[in-house]
Amino acid sequence: MLTIEDLSVSYGAVQALKGVSLEVPPGRVTAVIGANGAGKSTLMRTLAGLEKPQSGRVTFNDTDITGRKPEDVVRMGIALVPEGRSTIPDLTVEENLKLGGMWRTHAQRNTSLTRAYTLFPVLGERRSLGADTLSGGERQQLAIGRALMTGPQVLLLDEPSLGLAPLIVTQILELVGTMAKDSGLAVLLVEQNATTALRVAKTGIVLNLGEIVKSGPAQEIAQDEELRHAYLGY
Ligand SMILES: Nc1ncnc2c1ncn2[C@@H]1O[C@H](COP(=O)(O)OP(=O)(O)O)[C@@H](O)[C@H]1O
Ligand SMILES: [Mg+2]
Repeated sequence: MLTIEDLSVSYGAVQALKGVSLEVPPGRVTAVIGANGAGKSTLMRTLAGLEKPQSGRVTFNDTDITGRKPEDVVRMGIALVPEGRSTIPDLTVEENLKLGGMWRTHAQRNTSLTRAYTLFPVLGERRSLGADTLSGGERQQLAIGRALMTGPQVLLLDEPSLGLAPLIVTQILELVGTMAKDSGLAVLLVEQNATTALRVAKTGIVLNLGEIVKSGPAQEIAQDEELRHAYLGY
């Protein structure tokens, strides 16, 4: 279990997160939704060790990991799929995948590679092609596949829907939901696209200007029209 307590993060005078607390339990998707600038990426980057919090605490399986370095965090089992996917266009699909979990044993990485190809068959079909030949949806699968190569217990997914067709987004997120259920993976999904995110999530959390304004069962959040109008803009 990943537990976040009273987390505050600022960039100089900009307070991006203010006293955020939430839990990311195994075996399900927890969705944090909010408009552009709400602080979603800051939350993810802080959990991944890329930003240092001003105050607050992050614990993972009862170990305090607040302010740990990114390479330590990922080795402990927390993997980030950053916003914008960040796959390397000049490398092949397989080379991109193999960049994940470089410190793991050959056997562990082979198991994860086979698993990635089973989950995302299109990556197997295109393993020796350049990542630049992939469509947006395929690149998102590659980015998730690469994170899975680290053998994570927690997957942090930052706006996977960005720039993708709704049908592709639904397919990818449903797969992520199934993976969480089947393998016990804890998934923290942050999205502006509330409808799709809440469909696969068990718990929904609404973030606005760095503060949590509402949390509860995803279905309830999805049906709350007032909340939608006030914070999600539709
Ligand atoms: N590197 C940075 N330097 C200064 N301000 C930043 C930086 N990154 C994000 N911010 C600001 O922090 C706030 C939250 O940003 P972000 O976490 O990217 O939100 P979201 O991912 O929800 O769109 C915004 O006001 C944004 O302008
Ligand atoms: Mg963002």
